[in-house]
Amino acid sequence: MKRTLLLLTLTGAAVLGGVAYANRYALEHMVMQRMHGMGMGHMGGMGMAHMFKGVDTTPAEETELRAMFDGHTQITRSVENLPKGIRTVTETSNPALREQMVSHVIGMIDRVDQGRDPKVTIQSLTLDILFKNRALIVTEMEPTETGIIVTQTSDDAETVAALQKHAAEVSDLAARGIVSAQEAMMARHH
Ligand code: HEM
Repeated sequence: MKRTLLLLTLTGAAVLGGVAYANRYALEHMVMQRMHGMGMGHMGGMGMAHMFKGVDTTPAEETELRAMFDGHTQITRSVENLPKGIRTVTETSNPALREQMVSHVIGMIDRVDQGRDPKVTIQSLTLDILFKNRALIVTEMEPTETGIIVTQTSDDAETVAALQKHAAEVSDLAARGIVSAQEAMMARHH
């Protein structure tokens, strides 16, 4: 796959404390129910942690997700739909959050590249298409002062549609935080 990756220097991970989520309990309840359905029993007392877990997610990846949901109001985002894909600009004036966010973007795009679907509990189904069609995606990443520009294109119509849908989903996550993920999960299970 053709890929341009401008390496960014990331220093130390910021440890962010727990922040209460408005809809935390409703969402946890739903995740618990889903776990019951999977025969995993009730895993009380785990807080939000299990929502950011996947089949092989690292603690660093889970910390990044938590940081972005905790700090979503500090993230600005613009998405341009191109004829063959997307160009997104995602930024924050919070340097610690920026490190987590940029690390998430680089790490997750690398996962797509390698076909290593994390299968995080709350992840969008649109990612299934991006992982399936990963060989058809060309990605470029470019740092900005306060974030990152991602350009992703494809010659395949299904892939272009999925890239655009996913970019809109990320914008909604940035705008509304965990509530966005919660609504998407509820829509899936009803
Ligand atoms: C507030 C929450 C989140 C933010 C702000 C965020 C941000 C981003 C950004 C900026 C990108 C680059 C693509 C684009 O700009 O559209 C991206 C890609 C990605 N994110 Fe997230 N993300 C969030 C939550 C999640 C969650 C919960 C998952 C679950 C695993 C996830 C998995 C991915 C994957 C797999 C990609 C690569 C997709 C591709 O190659 O197009 N993200 N994310």
